[in-house]
Amino acid sequence: MLGLLQPTDPCWVDAVEGDLDGLLSDHAHCELKAAHSALSLVGRFGGEAPELVGPLVELAREEAGHFESVQRRIAARGGRLQPRASDGYVRALRRAAGDERGAAPDLLDHLLVAALIEARSCERFKLLAERLPQDELAGFYRELMASEARHFTLFSGLAETRFGAAESRRRLRLLAGREAEIAEGLPLGPTVHG
Ligand SMILES: [Fe+2]
Ligand SMILES: [Fe+2]
Repeated sequence: MLGLLQPTDPCWVDAVEGDLDGLLSDHAHCELKAAHSALSLVGRFGGEAPELVGPLVELAREEAGHFESVQRRIAARGGRLQPRASDGYVRALRRAAGDERGAAPDLLDHLLVAALIEARSCERFKLLAERLPQDELAGFYRELMASEARHFTLFSGLAETRFGAAESRRRLRLLAGREAEIAEGLPLGPTVHG
């Protein structure tokens, strides 16, 4: 699915169902991080790659809107946003891309790592949409699943436009291999990527 080489173990949904408040809080932070990293890419690469600026500023707005939606759900359940925990999945993926860097352009890897994070979120939101018994929450994740698929296409499309389809797809496959090892090695917990 969307370039991923290893499906998530469906038992992950059981871990999530045991701690929905934990999942929602982690998810809220993921949306904030997505907004933040889109703007960081603009700040870092907007000069050399001005075609990124419009789509990534728009993406940051959308991700901030997702954060608000998740935060509203947390509040409606009587909960509150928990302190941010570090995301071992994202850190490991960025480290793996660095280990594999070679002569690959830094921007290409940033775009492809972002594409893979969107793809994994999409895959996991699809599991939640299909398996959560709470209809309203399942519907929410169905909507977000579609957004994440669109974001995967945005990042992989930006990479292909700038670096060529053949090179981008070759590198995406290589990084997807590392992503599969990382995703498989993480304990199944009530977090979007854990
Ligand atoms: Fe989002
Ligand atoms: Fe996204």
